[in-house]
Amino acid sequence: MYILDGYRPDDVTELWAIEQECFPRGLRWNAKQFKGVLKSSLVWVAYEGPFNYYPVGFLVSWVDRGTPHIASIGVRKAHRGQGIATRLIQKAEEFYGREHDAINLNVRAENPAQQLYFRLGYRPCGFRKGILKMQKDLSPREGR
Ligand SMILES: CC(C)(COP(=O)(O)OP(=O)(O)OC[C@H]1O[C@@H](n2cnc3c(N)ncnc32)[C@H](O)[C@@H]1OP(=O)(O)O)[C@@H](O)C(=O)NCCC(=O)NCCS
Repeated sequence: MYILDGYRPDDVTELWAIEQECFPRGLRWNAKQFKGVLKSSLVWVAYEGPFNYYPVGFLVSWVDRGTPHIASIGVRKAHRGQGIATRLIQKAEEFYGREHDAINLNVRAENPAQQLYFRLGYRPCGFRKGILKMQKDLSPREGR
């Protein structure tokens, strides 16, 4: 059972461990940057339950020049493939969709995560230096 909630400062050590497990050195923030990013961003955390509620995944986001941006998402290897990232992304979309028409993210061209983003409705809108920019329309439509 997984519960999604906001980030709590007590989680910082666990979240840093997840960041290290998910991203190789060179593609991740260092510990100091990561702590700063957590403080200045909107972060959702997936907790494993029902007893201990320890963090197993996170999504970091912010608004960049008026458009919400998913800056990072990571899930512990042992907990992948169970829809945690999907739920984290849907949570961010639900939140930002109240006031914004679109949300975007960047993914490395070789990262299979783009299959997930495509399935959730993200579409390529730019490509630069091996990084694919993807965007999803959040504007309400009739019948939605
Ligand atoms: C990408 C990531 C967050 C997905 O988390 P998750 O909780 O397993 O995601 P979900 O269960 O919601 O969706 C799984 C889907 O992700 C996609 N996917 C992501 N990474 C994948 C990989 N390495 N191999 C295969 N499929 C992958 C597949 O489409 C998969 O669908 P499937 O289970 O039907 O095959 C997780 O794999 C991760 O932390 N990866 C390392 C960090 C990373 O690359 N983050 C994205 C940076 S842009």
